Amino acid sequence: MIPSTPINLFEYETLAQNRLSQMAWDYYASGAWDEVTLNDNRAAFNRYRLHPRMLVDVSQRDLSTTILGQSLSAPVLIAPMAFQCLADPAGEVATAKATAHSGIGMVLSTLSTKSMSEVAIANPQTWFQLYIHRDRNLTRALVEYAYKCGAKALCVTVDAPFLGRRERDTRNQFVLPQGMELANLCNLQAKDLDIPHRQGESGLFAYFAEQLDPGVTWTDLAWLRSLVPLPLVVKGILRPDDAIRAVEVGAEAIIISNHGGRQLDGAIATIDVVSQIVAAVGDRTEVLMDGGIRRGTDILKALALGAKAVLIGRPVLWGLAVAGETGVQHVIEILRDELSLAMALSGCAKLQDIDSSLVSRKS
Ligand code: FNR
Ligand code: LAC
Repeated sequence: MIPSTPINLFEYETLAQNRLSQMAWDYYASGAWDEVTLNDNRAAFNRYRLHPRMLVDVSQRDLSTTILGQSLSAPVLIAPMAFQCLADPAGEVATAKATAHSGIGMVLSTLSTKSMSEVAIANPQTWFQLYIHRDRNLTRALVEYAYKCGAKALCVTVDAPFLGRRERDTRNQFVLPQGMELANLCNLQAKDLDIPHRQGESGLFAYFAEQLDPGVTWTDLAWLRSLVPLPLVVKGILRPDDAIRAVEVGAEAIIISNHGGRQLDGAIATIDVVSQIVAAVGDRTEVLMDGGIRRGTDILKALALGAKAVLIGRPVLWGLAVAGETGVQHVIEILRDELSLAMALSGCAKLQDIDSSLVSRKS
């Protein structure tokens, strides 16, 4: 049965699938190769169990926090995701309005279909996610453009020297529909960049291979830092030693991420590395995580293992596809309500009460 008003994020997913074109659904939903990591991101949460504390006054719950000095109403941000106009004509602007309304964070992808300037108007707290292009003048122009638009942080994604092979996109010869553009790059008028049509290939895979720089290393992050006075966020960390290197280049935050299982298939589930990475960096940087968050209890587990906040990916696209800005707002509301109830049931009135004693890993 298909519900009319979704009551959880899984029901949003079912409704969204019915509304999206095959190409858009496959692009949004898929992971790399056998989708082992995509599925394990979810399955891994089920390997953790909660140890709730009783008889605590939980009549009021406070979910608010600060990340990079920004106040958030809940420890949640929207992950950078390309091509949101595939889900709704207002695309990233609708997502930004929903986040501004809900008081949570938003990261805009380099490959957005609405520009940073439009999105920053809708939510002035937005961060900009950067893909480093081979053309360094273009990369510099992108960073400077984001800064000028009012981006509050520069989030560099480091897990994509090439795009992971998503076989559904290869089969569909993924390309953007007529009328959709890479809004940030078009805005710069630096180059006429586009997702190309390629026989037997995903156009996005081809774009990455041709335009992005697979030679990027840690030293390039120092260069990026020198361009604009914005906090640096490194997204795509899965190992403690890389987390420490990110701290050494001065990252104000890191995002533990395997790109939602879209890059290296077989990579470890993100929830499984949170505690070891937090132990390695301590409080020298803010540690965020994403991948497979679909329930308030997932957020509770991530926070208990030491993450300061989480990012939500695909469910936002499902909300957008089902009901635009209202749908995204509702997705955020559902998660927030679930987290609030999960906190109450485990004896936590505020986020600081969520500690490592609340969670254990099943052997
Ligand atoms: C992404 N992700 C992503 N990451 C990034 O740094 N830049 C990007 O442009 C994109 N684009 C993108 C498109 C789509 C359709 C998806 C599903 C994901 C990865 C994203 O930021 C995040 O890491 C994952 O989506 C988190 O996993 P869940 O919540 O989708 O399971
Ligand atoms: C993706 C890229 C754009 O995951 O990050 O599709």
